[in-house]
Amino acid sequence: MSNTIEPKIFCAIDMADMDHALKIIQSVVKQGCGLKLGLEFYNRYGPDGVKRVQDEAGNPPIFLDLKYHDIPNTVAGAVREASKLGVMYLNMHASGGLEMMKAAREACEPGTKLLGVTVLTSLDDDNLSSIGQIASAEHMVQRLTELAQLAGLDGVVCSAHEIKMLRKNSGQDFVLMVPGIRPAGSAQDDQKRIMTPEEAMVAGATHLVIGRPITKSDDPAKAVKDILSSL
Ligand code: C5P
Repeated sequence: MSNTIEPKIFCAIDMADMDHALKIIQSVVKQGCGLKLGLEFYNRYGPDGVKRVQDEAGNPPIFLDLKYHDIPNTVAGAVREASKLGVMYLNMHASGGLEMMKAAREACEPGTKLLGVTVLTSLDDDNLSSIGQIASAEHMVQRLTELAQLAGLDGVVCSAHEIKMLRKNSGQDFVLMVPGIRPAGSAQDDQKRIMTPEEAMVAGATHLVIGRPITKSDDPAKAVKDILSSL
């Protein structure tokens, strides 16, 4: 079971070099960060890689960002297995539907929370219409968030610009996990619509996902300290 204190920041470990990752992980975890481990890390190192991080970094809170999307029985099986790792968060595409999310909820070990992914920020209204989705991205985000709530999920992953809209219709406990965050003055990289950590928290985010502004910094621990003191 991971540490149960909810961190404000999940540092995105988007790298496939374990030694390099562990160095960064150890310094950011000491500052109170959780870790977001995604498909790149997981496809290289698998559940054993997650366990190694837990062992070597003192069981930090982990958000395993694998974005499941399949029939209910299969997603339930994936969630059952992944939640045995004792991670704090797992996620799935809310567009997999109510039954899929409910099955995941039932299969999930207590102690692991479930998040829905609404509409990927890489998809705009034109992209959605090209796959036959005629509602706007904003409408879809609202609708899929309602469905995630109905299924009993703990929250959603959303872009910074959706925080206010979603917070209006959800209780304070509903998790809004927000990537696309850039401290003032840091490189934008490939993120298009960004917000500062402070702006996102004021708007109603519960957690921030921040990668490169921390991991590419010369001093990742100081980068985390500076962000936390800005909140
Ligand atoms: O390095 P950076 O702070 O841009 O990393 C953000 C992390 O959040 C990456 O792991 C990225 O895949 C993820 N993410 C995102 N935008 C989304 C969903 C996830 O940037 N809409």
